[in-house]
Amino acid sequence: MITTPAALRPSVPLAVTIRDAGAADARRLAEIDLLPDVRPWLDLPLEADDGIDSWTRNNRDWMEDPRHRCVVAVLPGGAVVGSVTLSRRPGEPDGACLALKVDPACQNRGVGGALLRWLVTTADALGLDRLYLAVLRTNRRAVALYARNGFVYDGPSSATCDRMVRMRPR
Ligand SMILES: CC(C)(COP(=O)(O)OP(=O)(O)OC[C@H]1O[C@@H](n2cnc3c(N)ncnc32)[C@H](O)[C@@H]1OP(=O)(O)O)[C@@H](O)C(=O)NCCC(=O)NCCS
Repeated sequence: MITTPAALRPSVPLAVTIRDAGAADARRLAEIDLLPDVRPWLDLPLEADDGIDSWTRNNRDWMEDPRHRCVVAVLPGGAVVGSVTLSRRPGEPDGACLALKVDPACQNRGVGGALLRWLVTTADALGLDRLYLAVLRTNRRAVALYARNGFVYDGPSSATCDRMVRMRPR
């Protein structure tokens, strides 16, 4: 019998649900942030070096910020495997996509796409005209995923990052 190595098998999409993040998710999100395959792609402040407890508090403060709507992607068994944040200042017509991340053990199985679909659908329902984000220009994978979800290049945002924007469909 011929067997195919797991790494070569087409990956099966993961059926995740998206729900609002709560304080109990802060530690899990901090753990994902600090994973070696995730952290280099996120623009984390220096406090991320202060250990998991400190970074968990930072994640809790992040979710409680009234400008932030932070959601998590959850497997049927309840495990949190990713997150994204829709940021919006009251009264402003634009929003931002922040801190998209998926546990590397669950990447390439549609979780990032599901989080981004939630983000753009929610932004459209809120009537936001534009959604902005900044991405390291070496992060080809994330750039391709954003492009598939309607974001286009909008110029450099720093020496290493590009800004992308998605306009609300008219
Ligand atoms: C970028 C990131 C969020 C993408 O998450 P993801 O869950 O892997 O995203 P998806 O699975 O939805 O899509 C990514 C790939 O899987 C493929 N894919 C999408 N749905 C799929 C499915 N149902 N089954 C199999 N593959 C699928 C896509 O074609 C895509 O392939 P490609 O990038 O090689 O062209 C994730 O890699 C990550 O957390 N990276 C580190 C942090 C980061 O870079 N964040 C962005 C900061 S700006």
